[in-house]
Amino acid sequence: MVGIPTNWFEDFFHGITLDLWRKAIPKEKTKAEADFLIKVLSCGPGAHVLDVPCGNGRLSFALAKHGYQITGVDLSEEFIYEARSMSTDLAKDQPAVTAGGSDSIRFVLGDMRRIEGESIYDGAYCFGNSFGFMQHVDMEKFLAGVARALKPGSRFILETGMAAESILPDFEEQSSHEIGDIVMTVKERYLATESCIDSEYIFERDGKKESRFAKHWIYTTAEIQRMLERAGFAVLDTYGSLKFEPYKLASEELFVVTEART
Ligand SMILES: C[S@@+](CC[C@H](N)C(=O)[O-])C[C@H]1O[C@@H](n2cnc3c(N)ncnc32)[C@H](O)[C@@H]1O
Repeated sequence: MVGIPTNWFEDFFHGITLDLWRKAIPKEKTKAEADFLIKVLSCGPGAHVLDVPCGNGRLSFALAKHGYQITGVDLSEEFIYEARSMSTDLAKDQPAVTAGGSDSIRFVLGDMRRIEGESIYDGAYCFGNSFGFMQHVDMEKFLAGVARALKPGSRFILETGMAAESILPDFEEQSSHEIGDIVMTVKERYLATESCIDSEYIFERDGKKESRFAKHWIYTTAEIQRMLERAGFAVLDTYGSLKFEPYKLASEELFVVTEART
């Protein structure tokens, strides 16, 4: 696993990795996340919310059903194509979900490092374990872009399963998972001086094997909060689950609720 490029995410998210993600997240989890977001975003129906990175829009659609206007941004052409196709189908089959017109749910092929707009969103969130794909300087660009794009006083909710306090206590160098018809073996190495995990994902399906490589930068919970504060957010709450339990050592997920400062 030598020399994984820092921009690994630019060509990691296609084909089998997307199939894995589609199969890995049960509908019940998406519903529970959407219910949590509705509570903590604290904005009313019709509010314009940014979902970044949105993947195939699983959470965008769940929130649109509650009357939010959604803009989803993602770098994966395949996911954005899928999300746009689903929104076209939805407009035909369930017009109530897209009642605000074609703009009520919109998917943009774009990069987290270059969030566009100024004071246009009433809320934003980054879910699906996507915080930490990029090195510090790029994560800061992402947070600064979200802060700029939000209206002052609106909320940004961050979820990650990769905060140091979540991932390091049970760090495993090798694990195997069966997800639908895909068997995934993950080989990982923690680069202590870089605070970074290098990973090789070996996927096996229908007798075919495929390897992909990724890097994940590990930020402590306090560091994530400092990054958010520096970008212009006030941290309001941290939670360790969708049930609002406190975040503690070895919690599987971290949720940070923030507000864009005025
Ligand atoms: C694990 S998926 C999560 C997607 C979505 N948040 C969810 O919960 O379903 C990670 C997503 O991050 C996207 N991504 C990775 N790097 C990105 C970047 N620099 N800019 C925008 N999207 C990015 C990938 O294309 C992928 O769709």
